Amino acid sequence: MSETLGSVAAPGHNQPDETAISLAYRAKTPGSARLAQEASTCFPSGVTHDSRYLKPYGLYVDRAQGAHKWDVDGNRYVDFFGGHGALLLGHNHPGVMPAVHAALDRSTQFAASHAHEIRWAELVKEMVPCAERVRFTSSGTEATSMAIRLARAFTGKSRILRFKGHFHGWHDDAAMGYSSHFDGSAPVGVPDTVAGNSILLDVNDFAALDEVFSSERDLAAVVVEALGAATGMVPLAPGFHEKLRELSTRHGVVLIFDEVITGFRAAPGGVQELTGVMPDLTAFAKILAGGMPGGAVAGREDILARLDFDRMRENGKEKMVHPGTFNANPVSACAGIAALEIIKSTDACAKAAASATALIEGWNTVLEQEDVPWVAYGQCSTFHLYMNPDETDFDRHKFDPISMSREQLQTKNAENVRQLRLALLANGVDISGWPGGLLSAVHESGDIADCVDAFRESLRMLKKI
Ligand SMILES: Cc1ncc(COP(=O)(O)O)c(C=O)c1O
Repeated sequence: MSETLGSVAAPGHNQPDETAISLAYRAKTPGSARLAQEASTCFPSGVTHDSRYLKPYGLYVDRAQGAHKWDVDGNRYVDFFGGHGALLLGHNHPGVMPAVHAALDRSTQFAASHAHEIRWAELVKEMVPCAERVRFTSSGTEATSMAIRLARAFTGKSRILRFKGHFHGWHDDAAMGYSSHFDGSAPVGVPDTVAGNSILLDVNDFAALDEVFSSERDLAAVVVEALGAATGMVPLAPGFHEKLRELSTRHGVVLIFDEVITGFRAAPGGVQELTGVMPDLTAFAKILAGGMPGGAVAGREDILARLDFDRMRENGKEKMVHPGTFNANPVSACAGIAALEIIKSTDACAKAAASATALIEGWNTVLEQEDVPWVAYGQCSTFHLYMNPDETDFDRHKFDPISMSREQLQTKNAENVRQLRLALLANGVDISGWPGGLLSAVHESGDIADCVDAFRESLRMLKKI
């Protein structure tokens, strides 16, 4: 990015693989470099989650506490990745960890029901408006997959309406249309017949919704990321949730909110508490399990009854199968209970949201001062950075993501994102590759100030490459 930053923002601008930024990152992280080299002989691309892929190599973390993590070289980072969203209470919360340790000492797997799964489900029922019944899974991917299958079992229909850019995990029904294959075609490894069961629409197009609901006779469910695509990067227009509710009710379609990120974060009862719009089913994971693996589907009793042995036998219907070795794992249950009790009884969600607002304001002030035509924005305790890839005329004060298309908001210059992430890491801050991140209730004003300073320094480094 030369003096103006415009050249960094330019799509197609050829930056060298090695820059002063990547060299600064390398100089700080030799231990990560060594481990990345070893990992390349074990894992494809050396990573175990696509979002951990980073050139020249990703960070190897040794330990974490509160809002911070330390890499294998002993460097400290303010953490805005937040355990992929699982850590509203930060790392190693003192109200959660004793419950985890005590659970570990009683065994990690009973292959039997246990009392803690009941309390865990009761908390979900107390906090989440739509939760008449609950079923635990091991992940968010499993939860959205189960919600879709339940909807099909309940309605006897096949097709799913989804929205472009919305992420629901990596199972076949959710594989197309969140980062590619926006035309609905099947990504590699997914059969055309499965892809053909999804209808993909742009969000905020109320007329297109009317058209699909009134013309499509085989629609089982509509699934939506409750805050909008990619954790609210593409926000939903006012009235969108209400419109989905009204059409779903009118046409006998199951409305599924994916609250895997927003559950217990947007509010203790998630986006459905904020909007007052009640889905039929909700998928949860992440915060639900207090930093341990776990997920759940919660919702209408008559729909979850498709999992009920006796009810289905009495009604002469086929029960939907659902085994799963780690469903309601006892350690996850105890972590989840401890975390949900805290979220229910404190202002954790509001505190994280206030920190996100402070971070967004701080970054926007820096962008103004450094004369960089980008803008930070976000909802609840999330933040996003719009990097203006087309270098359009730009007035930060008039930026309104709801008036912009998904393509505008989600198209990134990958090289600019990479350089920004490396520069922030070199300056002691870890964000996600959206680019953006998630705040916790334990980020303090000093963490936000550190992040704002790191952002300023990173922009100055970017201007020099
Ligand atoms: C909105 C949303 N749905 C589903 C998932 C998948 O959850 P998991 O990674 O637990 O499978 C994610 C994960 O980030 C998510 O953000």
